[in-house]
Amino acid sequence: MQQNPETEGCMKKNIIALIAFLGIAMLFAFTSCAARTPTDTKPEEAVKGESKVLVAYMTWSGHLRTLSEWVADETGGELFRILVKDEYPTEYADTTDRAKTELNQGIRPELSTHISAEAMKHYDTIYLGFPVWWYDVPMAVWTFAEEYDFSGKTIVPFFSHEGSSDGANSMNTVKKLFPNSKVLDNPLSIRGSKAASSEQEVRNWVKSNGHSKQ
Ligand SMILES: Cc1cc2nc3c(=O)[nH]c(=O)nc-3n(C[C@H](O)[C@H](O)[C@H](O)COP(=O)(O)O)c2cc1C
Repeated sequence: MQQNPETEGCMKKNIIALIAFLGIAMLFAFTSCAARTPTDTKPEEAVKGESKVLVAYMTWSGHLRTLSEWVADETGGELFRILVKDEYPTEYADTTDRAKTELNQGIRPELSTHISAEAMKHYDTIYLGFPVWWYDVPMAVWTFAEEYDFSGKTIVPFFSHEGSSDGANSMNTVKKLFPNSKVLDNPLSIRGSKAASSEQEVRNWVKSNGHSKQ
């Protein structure tokens, strides 16, 4: 069937308008993070290896701590915060700039928090929480992954985002970072703005992994 050139032109215009709209919506979703501010830089108490589960997380604006506390409560795991020695800036734009440089240049920022080899031996499951940064895993998580021997342990990733709901490249990176571990391929993904109201979703997900202490 032949198409009327006027209809065809109109369809093209609609498609262009739709693409422009989606582009603006994505830009808005990303820049709306600019309203976010960093949380404190307090470490968790030193872990002791008294549980089989470690809940290691990285956070800048606090969502991952909220999620991780529920994961730790549901699993009976010990909390560990991955913190960089040279703290990330307090301004969002400065933080995204630094994060981009670290990712592009493969910089592993030095960490200020560590786990003793003795404690690490006791964990067989590591819940690993991080925010999606530049469609990927923050480089501090690389530093963490390269510091310890995770051979034979199970890694359970979870993340928060502000649009990259599938984590973009994050899962590929996690699998690369833990080559001798079993990486569970059903990450929990929570939009940052919904983190505070996602307790039940977090607990259900932990239960579905078979790691609930209840
Ligand atoms: C440096 C930086 C880069 C980000 N990159 C992305 C991204 O690529 N995709 C996305 O959906 N959100 C991105 N975000 C938003 C965060 O993933 C989101 O706000 C997350 O919930 C923050 O978690 P937190 O509060 O634990 O730091 C970025 C935020 C920052 C600070």
